[in-house]
Amino acid sequence: MAHNSQSKPSSPFSPLQIGPLTLRNRVIKAATNEGMAKGGVPSKQLVKFHESMAAGGVGLTTVAYCAVSMDGRTFVDQAVLDEKTVPLLKAVTDAVHQEGGAVSAQITHGGCFTFLPELSTKYPKSASGGFNKVGVMSGRFFKTQMTEEDMERVAGEFERGAKLAREAGFDAVELHMGHGYLLSQFISPLYNKRKDQYGGSIENRVRFPRQVLRRVLDAVGKDMAVICKFSITEGVKGGHTAEDAAEIARLLEKEGAHLLVLSAGMNVESITTMFGSSFPKENRANVSNPIVKLGMFIQGLTEKPIEFKEMYLLEHARKIRAAVNMPLAYLGGVKSADSIERAMAEGFDAVAIGRALIFDPNMVNEMQKGAVRESGCTSCNRCVSMMYTPGGTSCVLGQPGDAKLNSTPANA
Ligand SMILES: Cc1cc2nc3c(=O)[nH]c(=O)nc-3n(C[C@H](O)[C@H](O)[C@H](O)COP(=O)(O)O)c2cc1C
Ligand code: SF4
Repeated sequence: MAHNSQSKPSSPFSPLQIGPLTLRNRVIKAATNEGMAKGGVPSKQLVKFHESMAAGGVGLTTVAYCAVSMDGRTFVDQAVLDEKTVPLLKAVTDAVHQEGGAVSAQITHGGCFTFLPELSTKYPKSASGGFNKVGVMSGRFFKTQMTEEDMERVAGEFERGAKLAREAGFDAVELHMGHGYLLSQFISPLYNKRKDQYGGSIENRVRFPRQVLRRVLDAVGKDMAVICKFSITEGVKGGHTAEDAAEIARLLEKEGAHLLVLSAGMNVESITTMFGSSFPKENRANVSNPIVKLGMFIQGLTEKPIEFKEMYLLEHARKIRAAVNMPLAYLGGVKSADSIERAMAEGFDAVAIGRALIFDPNMVNEMQKGAVRESGCTSCNRCVSMMYTPGGTSCVLGQPGDAKLNSTPANA
């Protein structure tokens, strides 16, 4: 059933119910890989990062990109949800709760999107097998099609990851179904060439992500909000469009997701669709991993420069708003009080913000006081390569992260 726009838009500072969770307001810090889990160990800098988001007033902050298994990692410096990381992540959730905020764990599996020197299998797994264009940079030229047994195992890893996130004190989990990682490799017609019940139609391509969602909802859905982040357009020829995404959203709504975060683009094919602005060539300077550096170089050669527009995904997101009734978070280029109010007026229930909150974690408080209406973030994307620096992700216009805190375990 289509969504009816309310006559009176919600205030961004009013509470929002998502599943069993009540947020104090409607501003969500979107997942932005923090680079604060060197060697897989969440650091004190990670605690500080999310504590400052909560102290700055967001309703929900999202700890980015936690892998559900060792093979599900993209990078070596990525936290894996296991018994060892629970007490470390607990330090993060405690700090956020102290500041009155809620905290979500983005849980993910990279599929064939991996730069790992070692994996337990020779070929990374994905929806389909064959040539692995992502692996060209890391010498993993081929990928293997997942069997139903593999899928059952990975669904179990998501379930276990969600339960561990609950144990670590998270209020929500966000299943990463976008940007070219495993679950989006199933959704994407570019990656999914299967001939069985998991390939072909949209319904078939969403079947595995839905099964994962069902497992997670059954395991933790009474205690935690279960959020799905997915790409509402892949931004590339042959990829899915916003019209397809409306159908994907309907299927996720039917399965019972508590909130959808509407992102866009794919890491390899269409990074500017994701960010709505071009990437500076100097970004590579911060990257020491030669594979990642080469990838960024190749991307730079193929990318068309684009000019940033506030709320650059609005036209696509409206199609999803019209298709479902469930809570939706608008994401993409929200940098001012006007944009937040606009998203509410368009019938979205929340906004998810990445860069403007890296620029100033205190933005929500400042806007609520009326002290600030515009963020000074220039959408330059230089923070993206900062995730590879010793201090982790930060805005280049401010202070870099503390390298010492970033090499200290979160609970030390
Ligand atoms: C430094 C940085 C790291 C990011 N890492 C992730 C990530 O780990 N997971 C994810 O889903 N999105 C990631 N993103 C994308 C953001 O969540 C968001 O989709 C994007 O920044 C657009 O939103 P914005 O215009 O509010 O910044 C990252 C963005 C930035 C700037
Ligand atoms: S580096 Fe700073 S100004 Fe540039 S996009 Fe990131 S947060 Fe915005």
